[in-house]
Parts: sequence; structure tokens; C-alpha cells
Amino acid sequence: MTAGARIGHLVTSGTFSLDGGVWDVDNNVWIIGDDTEALVVDAAHDAEAVAEALGGRTLRAIVCTHAHDDHIGAAPALAARTGAPILLHPDDLPLWKLTHPGRLPDGELVDGRTLTVAGVELTVLHTPGHAPGAVCLYAPALTALFSGDTLFAGGPGATGRSYSHFPTIVGSIRDRLLTLPGDTVVHTGHGGTTTIAAERPHLQEWIDRGF
Ligand SMILES: [Fe+2]
Repeated sequence: MTAGARIGHLVTSGTFSLDGGVWDVDNNVWIIGDDTEALVVDAAHDAEAVAEALGGRTLRAIVCTHAHDDHIGAAPALAARTGAPILLHPDDLPLWKLTHPGRLPDGELVDGRTLTVAGVELTVLHTPGHAPGAVCLYAPALTALFSGDTLFAGGPGATGRSYSHFPTIVGSIRDRLLTLPGDTVVHTGHGGTTTIAAERPHLQEWIDRGF
């Protein structure tokens, strides 16, 4: 692990809305950083709670794993109070505009882009399927993957609603995630963490069941 860098975590609560439905959800907010600077993965629901978890640290970026409203709801408010840029894969702009039509993201999370915070490098992996612009962040120095809603403990993210596609998420998980080192800890968008080694044997089961 790089000097001083660590992974912080909080859970925020709110709703997820799409296709006319509304569901109560708890979201994981991940904070990667040291005592002086940090990066937030998914500013979900509660800018106040995320700002409090940051303390006095400089926020370098607000990374959005995808633009479902539960993951981006508090991003503009957190950006306004910290000055940090909001980063999103451009393929999720149509989803983004459903929630924040008057405030576009500040930068693009294209595949292969690296972000550095507290001496730790995070590489953007474009992993479409749950959403067209879904990304994961891979930080080998932390033995960590931040998977958003692409991979959970127990299988792929949901693909039953608009903008989602099951064969596409299977391809993303097979080709981009299950190829990572087995000890990589997967920090998910909802629920508990898992590892690549724990999930890798189950790919065919997911394909057979169809979700
Ligand atoms: Fe999602």
C-alpha cells in the first residue's frame, strides 16, 4: 500500500428512480485518500454526510461509476461545496440528464484514463452493461476494485431496466474484471465487498440463469 493512502467508506440512503418506478436503496460511498487529499467514488444521496467524512481534506474529484440517480444525486451539491470536478463516462450522459439536466459533468472517464490521489493510481475500466457508461476503478496498489453496480457479491448488476443489457455486462465482467488478480477486493455500489477469486467460478451460473 502506498504511504498513507487508505479506503474509507460510508453508506447513504435514499431512492433509485427509473422507468417510472421508485425504490428505497442504501448506497456505498467510497473515499480513497490520505490525510490531505481524497477522491470520492459515487456521491450518493447526501452531500452533507460525504463532506463530513472528508473532513478538511481537499477533494480532487467526484467519480461517478454510472449515472443512475442513486449514485449521482449528491454530486452537484458536493462539487459546489468543494470545487471538485464531477467525472463521468460520456456514454452515460443521457442518464445523467434525466437527473441533472442543468448541470453537466466536468470531465470524462474514458477507458484507460488514470486518476492519481494520495500517490495511488486508479485506472478507469469501461464496463458497460448495467449502464452504457458504467465504469470500474482499478487500484492495484490498494489491491482494490471499485465496481459500482457492474459486479456485486453474488453476481452482475441488474440489467432489467432501460439502458441495460445482460450480454454486454457479462462480456464486461468476463473480459475486464474476472481477468484481474484473484485477491483483488471488490468494493461494490451496494452491499458487501467480495473478491475476484470468490466471484470468478460463478460466471457460467450467471449466464445460465440469465441475470
Ligand atoms: Fe445502478
